[in-house]
Amino acid sequence: MIVCSCNVLTDTAIRTACHTERPRTTGEVYGCLGCSPQCGRCARTIKTILDQALGGNCASGCSVCPMAGTAHTAPAEAA
Ligand code: FES
Repeated sequence: MIVCSCNVLTDTAIRTACHTERPRTTGEVYGCLGCSPQCGRCARTIKTILDQALGGNCASGCSVCPMAGTAHTAPAEAA
């Protein structure tokens, strides 16, 4: 699903970046994906995805998480 229409970012791309690049802020998520915020409408959704990834609440519905289906905390602790 397209989350950011300005930069054509999908939720999958954002989750992947959260797990592989480990950004800490919404601004860093854009940077990891090679873009920058434009209108800002997607910032809240991106923050939610980031918080889910960092909080380990992504086990269901996150196909890119190497810890999917297991109880885990932040991906940084899993490395
Ligand atoms: S929808 Fe993401 S910056 Fe506009």
